[in-house]
Amino acid sequence: MPAQQSPAGPTVTGEALDASDASDPDVSDAAITPTPAPATGPAGPAPVAGPADGAGRTDGAGRTDAVSEASTATQGSPPVAPVVIRATGVSKKFISYHRRATSLKELFVRRGQASGDDFWALRDIDVEIGNGQTVGLAGANGSGKSTLLKVLAGILRPTHGEVSVSGRIASLLELGAGFNGELTGRDNVYLNASLLGLSRREIDRMFDSIVDFAELPHKIDDEVKHYSSGQYVRLGFAVAVHVDPDVLLVDEVLAVGDEAFQKKCLAKIEEFRRQGRTILFVTHSLDLVESICDRVLVLESGSMIFDGAPEIGTRLLRQRLGSLPSDGSVPYDAAAVRPVLATFARDPGGLPQVQFDPGEKLTVSLTLDLTQDAPERIYLHVYVLGQHDLPIWLMETPVGGIPSRPGLLTVDFTVPKIPELLGAFAISVHVSDATTGVPITKRRFDDLFGISGPQAGGLLKVDYEARARG
Ligand SMILES: Nc1ncnc2c1ncn2[C@@H]1O[C@H](COP(=O)(O)OP(=O)(O)O)[C@@H](O)[C@H]1O
Ligand SMILES: [Mg+2]
Repeated sequence: MPAQQSPAGPTVTGEALDASDASDPDVSDAAITPTPAPATGPAGPAPVAGPADGAGRTDGAGRTDAVSEASTATQGSPPVAPVVIRATGVSKKFISYHRRATSLKELFVRRGQASGDDFWALRDIDVEIGNGQTVGLAGANGSGKSTLLKVLAGILRPTHGEVSVSGRIASLLELGAGFNGELTGRDNVYLNASLLGLSRREIDRMFDSIVDFAELPHKIDDEVKHYSSGQYVRLGFAVAVHVDPDVLLVDEVLAVGDEAFQKKCLAKIEEFRRQGRTILFVTHSLDLVESICDRVLVLESGSMIFDGAPEIGTRLLRQRLGSLPSDGSVPYDAAAVRPVLATFARDPGGLPQVQFDPGEKLTVSLTLDLTQDAPERIYLHVYVLGQHDLPIWLMETPVGGIPSRPGLLTVDFTVPKIPELLGAFAISVHVSDATTGVPITKRRFDDLFGISGPQAGGLLKVDYEARARG
């Protein structure tokens, strides 16, 4: 039963699309940059197709359209390929709507003030993405994923820092940042593709294929404002993948489409991946991160808290999401799965004991009481907590969770050899639906068990030497 692998279950509940740009105070920003405004396309205004001349020409928004070919990342999981996307010290501040200056004078006066209503959606983001990488962008709702994509696509200007991208970027961003509603689907296709640098003839050639892919033959001459969100996203994705992009940025809008279309999109993403294009996509599906990403970036409150291997990133995410106070779970005594008992023994079902020695076997047994409303499969993670409830280690159920049935169920986590530790430990269990990842409940048990390590002070036994010098 005990397992160390990453389970497949928990993902964050999908976020509804926020059309945050509708009242975007940042539009004023956009208006003063020469970068085309968001109203013009699901495919973000891309820089000129990237010449590899390393000249690093910069447009007015501070974007360079060519990045040094030789550069590679120095942190996170270092891309070996040339860097195609680079963000350095990128921060993005939004100003709360009600605080917006209503006159030029007010704007001036406010300039020097530290405004309590400034909101930093991105904080000091450094990232380099190498050519051909498939990168997942994850994090809780509101953590800054969409903002980061928009900054990379050139739709939002960072408050601080720099962004450079080489090659043609196509992007499928949030619904609000997409097509012009007053134009027909056909006109939007032409507008978007031409913004990406395609000639009319090129667009003519691919037009039917775009409409086919979007499955919209009967709608293409309707104004886009009459499209459903699913139709809108289908057309946006179809354009984005047809314009032969080097870099594809995809927000979680894909979740809007039906399942068949999602499959088609994923197949396309997979095809792009094989063709060695660079992909950065937002996802709440930890399974997807593990199956197709070379790397995952995790945002939390606008900061990048992780950049690296998918297996580690998803683990971290599960942990973060599982331990968030506002995870949507209900109190343990009211939940459909109630953790009722925690016991410590040497062997599963063995005599409970409170004191253990390092090197000994330890079994933590959790008894759950499941009601009829419990989901089909549940997923547990169990933190062993030290002093001040500091998590010392984590134990999880296997990939996909465990089947649940009404009544009492005991899950044993066996540690074959207790590490060299000293102290008293408690445990905290988090339960979620293994299929959807939705948190169900969590409980910290007060019961303690002790480990009597050989050292007199401190938690951990570390080998060392003490020697006087001089
Ligand atoms: N145009 C905007 N004006 C003010 N706040 C915004 C704007 N866009 C996003 N935000 C805020 O920035 C934070 C990050 O948003 P977002 O990037 O959409 O997060 P995510 O995509 O990870 O859910 C959120 O708190 C959101 O409310
Ligand atoms: Mg978002």
